[in-house]
Parts: sequence; structure tokens; C-alpha cells
Amino acid sequence: MSNKHIVIIPGDGIGVEITAAALNVAKAAADKCGFSFSYEIRQAGGAALDKFGVPLPEATIAACRQADGVLLGAVGGPEWDHVAPELRAEKAILGLRKELGLYANLRPIKVFPALAGQSPLKPELVSSVDILIVRELNGGIYYGDKKEAAIIDGVEKASDTEVYSRPEIERIVRMACRAAAGRRGRVMSVDKANVLAASRLWRKVAVEVAQEFPQIELTHMYVDNCAMQLVLNPGSFDVLVTSNLFGDILSDEAAVLSGSIGLLPSASLGDGTGLYEPIHGSAPDIAGKGIANPLGTILSAAMLFRYSLGNSQAASMMEQAVEQVLADGYRTQDIYQQAFTKVSTEAMGQQVIARL
Ligand code: NAI
Ligand code: MG
Repeated sequence: MSNKHIVIIPGDGIGVEITAAALNVAKAAADKCGFSFSYEIRQAGGAALDKFGVPLPEATIAACRQADGVLLGAVGGPEWDHVAPELRAEKAILGLRKELGLYANLRPIKVFPALAGQSPLKPELVSSVDILIVRELNGGIYYGDKKEAAIIDGVEKASDTEVYSRPEIERIVRMACRAAAGRRGRVMSVDKANVLAASRLWRKVAVEVAQEFPQIELTHMYVDNCAMQLVLNPGSFDVLVTSNLFGDILSDEAAVLSGSIGLLPSASLGDGTGLYEPIHGSAPDIAGKGIANPLGTILSAAMLFRYSLGNSQAASMMEQAVEQVLADGYRTQDIYQQAFTKVSTEAMGQQVIARL
């Protein structure tokens, strides 16, 4: 028995369907390993705006703070595109990141052998891809001083500032080293230390932090080279740790290796409650049809078990079941090809459960 508690935020669009499927899988996986957890459903995003007048209600924040982990579907959609900036659905995610102090974004990119043929790269290049990108989420150029465009000395100028402090770098590199310890033990720190002062501090601190982890091998790469290597030799990476801006770009580049955004999970972690969500959005074009791919959300729930509930057994069980379902030929529409078995969102969840 455990007293672990999670909050589920379905959100908008396909969020409702995919979180329902993932919850069923999570319950079944927990059952299989004699683990129990409680949960509650809370609102955020466009649906919350309609109902409560704000995209991130106080009650949702309070429930998330008290929970061990939060599983979120996706928020937003065209119905809410015309609201005031402070009421936009995206504010729900930014707000949660802030309220929960989430400073690390973990994005595993794995190419399932059964789907290697759907990658834009050659199957032999991607079949061994298993990368964990650890992106700093709370600092860097997105949060540094900015000056909006203005005429200065007769020329229009605007600026943003890249700032990193030692504690910010220490905690993210520590997180990457801990994650690597449970993987292949290699951390690649990505920066632009040849040009940026903030990157030079980043590199110096990374070297110091890595000394706390003698079993971890730390190497460094410039971000421009990294962008090339992700395409030329993606199987060579284990854990990649980098700043907010570089991580934003590289994680989207790496995501396309897998062939579908419906498959990829993510975790945002801090010192308290973790937030877990698939990397895609609310997919308004297919919402309500029961055809969305729930695997990215199911894999996000697996990460929740691993990082927030302390149950790696259930996590691995869910991950292996997903791999097996794909190997057995089950496909939602986004990854469907002729000769495979096309299934709905819910049926995909049931097939995963059958393989736990
Ligand atoms: P999107 O990721 O929702 O959709 C892009 C394309 O991928 C669409 O064709 C969609 O049908 C497909 N797709 C996405 N997830 C899928 C899944 N699980 N299974 C099958 N197909 C899937 O991105 P888009 O269209 O740019 O944004 C739609 C809405 O979602 C917008 O309101 C946007 O602001 C919001 N959004 C929310 C995010 C979040 O909640 N974290 C992240 C990105 C976008
Ligand atoms: Mg991005």
C-alpha cells in the first residue's frame, strides 16, 4: 500500500481522450505490482476558462501542490485563440511550471524498432536512438532582461539577455547526472562556450558538478555541432543537458526522429510535485473522434511512476508493454500503414493493458 496521490488535468481537445486511456493503463500497471495510488481530476486551460473565468484556477494549483505528481493532457484550441493574452490557455502550463518550481524538462526520445521505418532518417541510423534531453526550464534568455524594439540613436533595436547563475546550472546538471546513472552513464553538456559568457560559466560548473558523480562520463559539445550530430549520428547520445533556449530547439529537432509526436512523453521536475505531459498539443483537428494516439501520454504516466511515485517497476512495465503493442502491429491513425491493425485511442490503451 502507498498513500501516493496524483492530479489528472485532461485539459482541452484530445487531452480528455488520451488522459482517460493513460489513467486506465496506470491503474492496471499499479494493480499488477500491488501498488495503489489515489487520484483526482482537475481543470486547466480553455475548458477551465469557460467554467471558472481563468485558465488556471486556484483550486487546481492547490491540488497540484499537494499531489506527488500531475498528469496533463494538453490545453488550448481555436475556441480560445481570441481571448486576452493573460487568459490564454498556455498560461495554464507556464503558471503551473512557475507555481510548482519546475526547473528541468526531461524529454526522452526513443525510436521504437517497429516504427524505425517511419522516421525521416534512414532506419539503420535511428533504430538505436535512445536519448534523454534535460532542458533547463527556468532561466536563460527567456527570462533575462529584455528591451522591446525602440529607436536608439536613429536605429530600431531590441535585445534579450542570456543569464545563468551557478545554482541554476548546478541543479540542472545534477539532475542530468542522476538520470544518466540509471541509463548508460554518459552526459553530454551542450553550450556555445566559444562565444557566450553564460555558456562558459555553464561549462565550468558542469565540470565541477560531474566530479560528484565519478561513475558519469561528462563531455561537451557546441550547440551548432550538436544540431548536426542529432541528424548524422543520433544513436551516439545518452543524456544531453542544455540551457532553456538550446533545449527548446534541440528537443524539437530530436522529436521528429521518432516519426510521430503522438509517441513522445515529457516530465517537468523541480524539488516538489512533478508535471508529466505528452509533447504534442490538443490536436483540435482530430479531437472528439477517438483516434488520437495515447502512447505519449501513457509513457508520460510511466515517467510519473518512475520520478514522482518512486515505482520504476510499474514504469518499466508500461514502457515494455507499449513497445510490445507496436511490435505486435497495433497502430492509431497517425502511425498507421497498410497491413497493420488500426485501433482507436481507447483500444490502444486496452492493448497496452493486455501486455502489462
Ligand atoms: P498539436 O500538437 O496539437 O497538433 C499538431 C498535429 O499533430 C495535428 O495534425 C494533430 O492532429 C497531430 N497530433 C498531435 N498529437 C497527436 C496525437 N496524440 N495523436 C495523433 N495525432 C496527433 O499542435 P498545434 O496544432 O500546433 O496546436 C493545437 C493547439 O494545442 C493550440 O491551441 C496550441 O496552442 C495547443 N498546444 C498545447 C500544448 C500543450 O498543452 N502542452 C503544446 C502545443 C500546442
Ligand atoms: Mg518548443
